[in-house]
Formats: sequence, C-alpha cells, structure tokens
Amino acid sequence: MIKRYRYGQPISTDTIVKSIPICDENIAFFQLENKEKMTFTYTMDDNDIIYGLGENMRGINKRGFTYISRCMDGAKHTEDRNSLYAAHNFFIIDGKKQLGVFFDAAGIVSYDIGETEIDQLIITCDDNDFDIYLIEGDNLKDIAKQFRQLIGQSYIPPKWALGYHQSRWMYKTEDDFRNIVKQYQENQIPLDAIYLDIDYMEDYESFTINRENLPHFEELVQEFKEQGVHMVPIIDAGIKVKEGYHVYDEGVKQNRFCKDKDGKNFKCGVWPGYCHFVDVLNEDNRHWFGDQYQFLLDKGIDGIWNDMNEPSIFYTDERLNEAYSLVDELRDSELNLFTYFKMRGQFSKLSSNPKDYQLFYHDINGQKVRHDKVHNLYGYNLTRAAGEAFERFSPEKRILLFSRGSMIGMHRYSGIWTGDNLAWWSHLKLCIQQMPNINLCGFLYSGGDLGGFGSDTNEELLMRWVQFGIFTPLMRNHSQSQRAQELYAFKHTEIFKNMIEIRYAFIPYLYSELVKAALSDESYFRPLAFDYEDDKQARLIEDQLMVGEAIMIAPIYEQNGRGRFVYLPENMKLIRMRSLSDYDEIELEKGNHYIHVGFNEMIFFIKPNHIVPFAKPALTTRDMNFDELYVLGYVQDEIEYTLYDDDGYTRDINQPEHFHKIYASKEYCDCKTKKVQYR
Ligand code: GLC
Repeated sequence: MIKRYRYGQPISTDTIVKSIPICDENIAFFQLENKEKMTFTYTMDDNDIIYGLGENMRGINKRGFTYISRCMDGAKHTEDRNSLYAAHNFFIIDGKKQLGVFFDAAGIVSYDIGETEIDQLIITCDDNDFDIYLIEGDNLKDIAKQFRQLIGQSYIPPKWALGYHQSRWMYKTEDDFRNIVKQYQENQIPLDAIYLDIDYMEDYESFTINRENLPHFEELVQEFKEQGVHMVPIIDAGIKVKEGYHVYDEGVKQNRFCKDKDGKNFKCGVWPGYCHFVDVLNEDNRHWFGDQYQFLLDKGIDGIWNDMNEPSIFYTDERLNEAYSLVDELRDSELNLFTYFKMRGQFSKLSSNPKDYQLFYHDINGQKVRHDKVHNLYGYNLTRAAGEAFERFSPEKRILLFSRGSMIGMHRYSGIWTGDNLAWWSHLKLCIQQMPNINLCGFLYSGGDLGGFGSDTNEELLMRWVQFGIFTPLMRNHSQSQRAQELYAFKHTEIFKNMIEIRYAFIPYLYSELVKAALSDESYFRPLAFDYEDDKQARLIEDQLMVGEAIMIAPIYEQNGRGRFVYLPENMKLIRMRSLSDYDEIELEKGNHYIHVGFNEMIFFIKPNHIVPFAKPALTTRDMNFDELYVLGYVQDEIEYTLYDDDGYTRDINQPEHFHKIYASKEYCDCKTKKVQYR
C-alpha cells in the first residue's frame, strides 16, 4: 500500500511512472516540524535497521551517520563524506515497523539517521516543495518491489556489458589500445570492452575525436568489433567555451545553455577550462544534447559512460577571485597558524562549492528555476538525454550506458558506477555494502572500479576485488594510478585468467538473474535479511550478500585474509573455486563457519534446492555458446529454474521464448530448449 503526501508545489522530477493520488491527511508515522526547513522525525527502536539511500558511504545498515542527497564530485570517499555522486532518496525502516519511504524531491535532502541522537531519524529538506511516499507491505521484498513498480523498470544492458572491461585514464593512441587488447588476447584473458577516457577527445571537447592520436578511429572501432571487443568512450557534461567547436557554436546559436543571473550563458571551469552546461531540464535541449551522441554511434560505438554530470564544477570566476584576493592580501606576510590554513582552505573550497550552484538557472517549461533547487535532477537528465537518443537511433539494439551522477528515475535509462574510489581495502568493503542499497533504488547494472581508481593498487587487493567483481553486473577495471592495473601486469596472471573465466562461465546465471530482476522489479543484490527476515543473525550481517535467487556470497575484503567467518542462514553448499576445472563442493550446515579461502580461490554458496547454470567461457561473450550449459546445484527435491536468455541485444526483451525451464533433481537435469548437464 502506497500513500503519497504533497508539500508545497514540487517541480515534476519524472522519478515515478505510476500515478498515486495525493492523500490529504497528515503524514503517518513521522512527526513534522515546520522549522526554518521542514523536518520529519521518527523514533527508531534499538533493533530497527535502515536499508537504502543507494550510493552512499558506510554500511548496509545506514544507522549512525548523516547522508545528504546532493550529487557531488569528490575524489576522496572518506568515512566523513555525507554525499557522493547520487541522490537516492529511498530507504526502508525494518524493525518494530516495516516502512518504505521515498522523498521525491529535486533539491537537497538530508538524513540524520541516529547521528545527532542515537534513536532519532531526522529528515530535513532544503526546500519546501516535494512529495513523500510511504509504502507498507507484507515484508521487505514486497515493500522494495512496490517501490520499484512505482519508479518503473530498470535499465537492461546488452549481454556483452556483463563481460570483463578494461579501462584506464591514460590510454591515448591507437597503439596503446591495440597493445592492451593484444596483451589480453595473448594471455588468453577474456575481454569484452576497452574504454576511452577524456584523452580521446580533442581538447576535452565532448563529441570530438583527437585525430592526432586516433587518426583511424572508425577503423579501430571496427577492427576491435571484429574481435568481439567494444570501445566505450566517455562523455563529459561541460561543453568547452570555444568558437569553432560545433557543439558550442550550435548551443550558443540555439540558446541551449544554462544562464547566469544576467541571462548570459553560465560559465565555469571543468577539464577543458571554461565550460557551459546544457540546460537538460528542458525537454527540447535534452533532445538536442541526445542528438549529439549520433556522432559516436555513427562511428560504430555501442557503449557510453557519462561523467562529471553532477554537474562537477572545478571553479567559477567568483570563487577564483575570492582566492586570488586572499593571496594578494597575504602575499608579503609571514603565514601563521590562522592565515596558512585560511589560504589552504580557500583553495580547497574552489571545487564543488555549494555557492556556485546558486549562480545559474534553468528554464523548465518557461519557468526560471535556480539550479540548486533542482540540482539533483541534472545528472539524471543528462544521462536520460543519451538514453532517449539511443532509443531513437538504435530502436532494435540495446546500447551500454552508465553514468556517474544519478538520481532515482535515471535507473530506467542507465546503470551507474560508483565513481572515484581508491585502492583501499575499506573501499572494497564499501563497494560490497553499496551494491544492495544501490539495487534497492533501482540501479541494477552497477559496479565499482575494480582494484580502485585512485592510488596504487597491489596484486592481492585487485585479486580480492576481482573475486567479488565476478558477481557485479558491471565488471570494469579502471584507474588513474601510476602502477599499471591491467590483469596481465601482475605476477599471477594465470589466477586472474582463471577468475575472469569463472565470471564468463557464470554469465548465463548472472544475465538471467539481472534481467529477471529488472522485469519483475526485484533486487539482484540483496542484504541477507531480505531472504531471511526472521533470522536475527542474518539481519545483522554486513558483509555477505544474496546474488539472484540461488547464490549467497561472502567476499574476502581484508588484507592478508586467507579465510573468514561466514554465517549460513540455512544449510548451503559451499563452492570453492580455483578454476572451472578445479573446485570443491562442500555441504555445510546452517550456522557459523570459518571458511579458508586461498589467494587463488573464490567462494560462493548455493541455497538448497537451487542450481547455477553456467557455460564454457571464451575470449569474448560473442564467442560463447549459451545453448550448451552445465549446472552446479544443491538439489534434494525436483526443482525448476527459469533461465532468461536472448540474443543479448534485442530491446524486445520480455518474449516467452526467452524463458527456458531447467528441471533438476539430485541425479539429473534437463531443459527442452537448451542442452544442459550436471558438472
Ligand atoms: C572522473 C571520473 C573518472 C575519469 C576521470 C577522467 O574523475 O570519475 O572515472 O577517469 O574523471 O575523465
């Protein structure tokens, strides 16, 4: 049951797809206080758990900290960060009462979940215009599903998007790209995509190609495509201010950019220097921006990542002038404790400064709206522009799309990656904990940069990240570190190869579970509590996840870890894999276990009366045979598993012939439409 409460006159966010009547009662369960800002409070029971809020810092249970929905670029994801790149305003209270809560707001919302007062959940909205949805249901899964039905079906990527992807902010020339792909092929490590970061552009101008480094770009795309490898270019939000640059010229001429208070095109600094932002909150401009992607699709591109669309601002003249004045003032003085830190602070406040988001305006259906009031809609609509354009330009084939900035609603057009993490063990753990909450907010196709984006990784950290990444729909190794992070750049290339082969082998299961989750508005990654609600211990587990209907994972995320405690909420079968031909199957009883996991091993658990179908890996998903499947199972009774499979790119997804029933008992397994056999 969903109830909708309205406050003020909210701007339409396009987050929901179902119309729910507005309820004229006072809001239930929460206390509303009309302070300077509207504040809603809820008293939490000691055992209450709060799931959700999507991409954020800290644990699966969000209690104990304040999270602010303000899409924001920031290189260091430290524990004290209140905001990352997303505005995911949905959470579920699980405890004395089970309740789903969605703040449908375009502006900034903060959630103090027991930080100020341990039992108080305090939600504050910067503006007074928003809708709140309260969802009651039979259980956690039911509440989560009702919410997903409200916001519409999640984006489904093409099948090749589940392959292994290699990226790095450094590849520049055609030889660089050829060399990387060749090394993967020579080492026989599967690879489906290689990424183009900002250096492929001319002067960091979106929708251009640097012809000096990539004179035969179109041929290169084709050459890789023939090998089954996709090139995936980045697109940045900021449009360089430069006469002669076609996007700039046309944008100015057609009046596509956000305006400052005087009605001039708003200007700020990002990678290329001064930039304008396209006013994508206006439908016509969104369409125009989407049209720009045709430039890349025409060159054979079928995957894009959208970046810097929070939107990220490095500086504005206003902020620079403040900093320069301070420098002038202090130039000839001896810096002391106060002046030294003041100067440092002034420069660190240059980027992502909230004041800069008050300097520009959107035209929403003729209404002039200051950006900070609708800040969180920006990244969503920039990526939506691409998603809508792909439907126009590629009506049959799905295009890979994921974005850094995001808000609920965007999940219908795109996936997300978790941005600039670091090669820290704590960030591997964070990535594990982010996944189920990101799923709850509708983003199923997601993952973090394997090995860490910033600072140097090491072989063990990357290995453990890859072993977890086997299960994340987006499995991309991306970095800007000094140290090479490609899998062949380490001593145990063979072990990495085994792990990537395991990933590829599982694609039938992973793809099936991902698509089914999207079609049925369910989560692909879930906290244990969603499957074992009455199990007190399962509710407290922060480092194990359910993946699809059959698997539970318990990743290793600690330095020098060669094992870990695992809680089994019921009897399960442990699979400990070194390679596809070398693994153990061990039946374990419900309860606590210590499981040894060597550096060269990945583990997972199969639930009773479940199976995991897999295929023979190949060097690309294109070269795999998805009609000949093997099965790992933990089956006592006769069971039936519904495998989803299609050609991997059709947009016409929900067809009866895409669903294949696999029947399994302890001794045999069978399927009418595919060849299946037990391993
Ligand atoms: C941002 C992105 C990162 C990318 C870099 C350069 O920091 O998050 O992934 O490599 O910009 O484009």
